[in-house]
Amino acid sequence: MDKRTFLKNVGLIGLGGMLNLDNLAELVKSKSSVASAVLAGDEEFWASIRKGYKLKPAFINLENGYYNFLPEQTLEKFIDHVREINFQGSYYMRTVQFDNKKSMAAKLAAVAGCSPDELIITRNTTESLDMIIGGFDWKSGDEAVMAEQDYGAMLEMFNQVSKRYGVIKKVLSVPNHPQSDDEIVNLYASAITEKTKLLMVCHMINITGQILPVRKICDMAHEKGVQVMVDGAHSFAHFKFTIPELDCDYFGSSLHKWLSVPLGSGILYVKRKKIGNVWPLLAEGERKPDDISRLNHIGTHPAHTDLTISDAIDFYNIIGVERKEARLRFLQNYWTSKVRDLPNVILNTPADPSRSCGIANVGLKNMKPSDLGDILFKKYAIYTAPIDGAGVHGCRITPNVYTTTADLDELVKALTELK
Ligand SMILES: Cc1ncc(COP(=O)(O)O)c(C=O)c1O
Repeated sequence: MDKRTFLKNVGLIGLGGMLNLDNLAELVKSKSSVASAVLAGDEEFWASIRKGYKLKPAFINLENGYYNFLPEQTLEKFIDHVREINFQGSYYMRTVQFDNKKSMAAKLAAVAGCSPDELIITRNTTESLDMIIGGFDWKSGDEAVMAEQDYGAMLEMFNQVSKRYGVIKKVLSVPNHPQSDDEIVNLYASAITEKTKLLMVCHMINITGQILPVRKICDMAHEKGVQVMVDGAHSFAHFKFTIPELDCDYFGSSLHKWLSVPLGSGILYVKRKKIGNVWPLLAEGERKPDDISRLNHIGTHPAHTDLTISDAIDFYNIIGVERKEARLRFLQNYWTSKVRDLPNVILNTPADPSRSCGIANVGLKNMKPSDLGDILFKKYAIYTAPIDGAGVHGCRITPNVYTTTADLDELVKALTELK
């Protein structure tokens, strides 16, 4: 059944309404024989996904990197959970709260491809990774490797352990256009000495969207006896991988980014053998050393957010990670390929599809990123994230599954006029 016939059958054509999850699943099923790379360019199909999003008419939102706000299908479930927990009050908190959180973690572990015993729900990437940095068993003179393109909150946490324990930071700079994986791996390898204990690496650099060869970096670091902590804030639920296949020791992500969970939700993965070595940020009662719940005492928190993780995963699974990844990469390539060779335009993201996905960063040689961001917003009604530092000067462009090629045509038009 093609999409038009299907929509007719379910009575949605002409109503302008969003599809409920069952209908969305049917629609996706009707496309099961279409390759993800082909479906990626099917505007009619993605328009059905877009219908689930309530979009501000005032501007085109190309800044979904901070927060992938919820489609209405998930938002409605979230509101139901808020009402239900408000109705049940302390009874909910004292009875099923923790069992429910555990089953949400198990569902997330299935998405991550890891054991439920190695993953906990946190409030965000910052909490996850800062717990590792702050809770690592540092000795004065130990060294840690990181990049200037890493996220500020983690770099600040390293500054703190540096002051507190005498840890030495080795900060490298990742080129925006590497020639090979070896170039990146060698860069990290050259920062390691016999004193290095921990290496932090972004899976996807947030300011450029560059994907780093994390598995190769882990293999290299492990050979030298160095543990690896991966910042997966922008990779989880954006493109396809499992955490175990990276073979990292620690991995953190924010679920309010690419999984579209309500604000304030994240994950921390810790390889089983490493769980017992981490000092929790907030102390938990006596637990076995390899019980990851010892790292998960956060006190009373919005339990309705935990419950919505399941709904967000349902939405994500219906689209399917291959389709989502292919669409996001298609969208990025759609606009970058049209402006990459324009004089005066600087693209800060590699063209190689294995080194990028949905996010890219564009600058103009004759304009500060903040001015470019201002003009894009005020003159062209396009919202982006200007970045000016760590060798990256341009606006970060982050589409979402609801973004259309027509939205991106506006960006291309603006850059072509401004070039
Ligand atoms: C690479 C990276 N790491 C960590 C974070 C922190 O995420 P959160 O504020 O959700 O903790 C971000 C946020 O944008 C990020 O881009």
